[in-house]
Order: sequence, then C-alpha cells, then structure tokens
Amino acid sequence: GAPVEVNISKAEPGQMLRVKWRGQPVWVVRRTDSMLEGLDDHEDRLRDPHSEEPQQPPYAKNRYRSIKKEYLVAVGICTHLGCSPSYVPTEMEEHIEGVHAGFFCPCHGSMYDIAGRVFEGVPAPLNLVVPPHYYEDDETILVG
Ligand code: FES
Repeated sequence: GAPVEVNISKAEPGQMLRVKWRGQPVWVVRRTDSMLEGLDDHEDRLRDPHSEEPQQPPYAKNRYRSIKKEYLVAVGICTHLGCSPSYVPTEMEEHIEGVHAGFFCPCHGSMYDIAGRVFEGVPAPLNLVVPPHYYEDDETILVG
C-alpha cells in the first residue's frame, strides 16, 4: 500500500499522534527533553537496549530507536500477545520505579520505555516494532 503521511508540525512536546498503517496502529511521539534524558538511566534493566534484534530497521539500532531523537515512531502493539499498550507520558513511576515515561500493557503488565524498549522480567519478548519510515521534510513523516 501507499505510505501513510504524518504531519508533525503541530505536535506538542509530549504529544502522541496516532495513524493507521496496514491496519496497525502507528504512534508518533514527540518526546520532551526530560524523556530523552531519562533514557540512559535504566539501560541495565532492558532486554535489548540497542535493538540488536535483526527485525529492526537500521535507524532503530540506537538508544533513541529513531532517525531524529525527538520523534519516536513505533507500531502500537504489544510484542507479547498483541494488546494495545497505554502511553504513560509522566506517571510511569506507578508501574516501574525510576522510569519517568513509557508504555504499559494492561493485559499482562509488559512495560516499555519511551523508546519502546522492553524491560526485563515482563512477558513481552521484544522491543516495540519500529515500522519503515522516513522524513519527507521537517514537518512530514511517511510511514511505509
Ligand atoms: Fe501485552 Fe501480554 S499482550 S503483556
């Protein structure tokens, strides 16, 4: 199918945009500076902090798992059994100590950080999937 266009020009810091791509939810999160700064605080608690898994696109193989560190682009489907995790912009501490923001799957309690990196000790085996995408210009991401 045709790539899906996401206009990011109006996204506020901390905001999540949602689009559909091939029937799947795709999230675009404009991460705040504090979200980005928190990403190196808990790498020893992650299953695959540098996204070495082969199914990840090359531009996900970094701490931010993204082309531009400000924007996370991820498929919004838990890698355990496919539930839809909740975006937790500021209250992740309720779910996992010392982690400021991320994603929480209500089905069996899997937790991901704000780069979609899965924590150790939860049922989900893999980081959230980063779909193929690119920047058409500063305001437009094409997913697909
Ligand atoms: Fe998300 Fe099981 S489907 S934890």
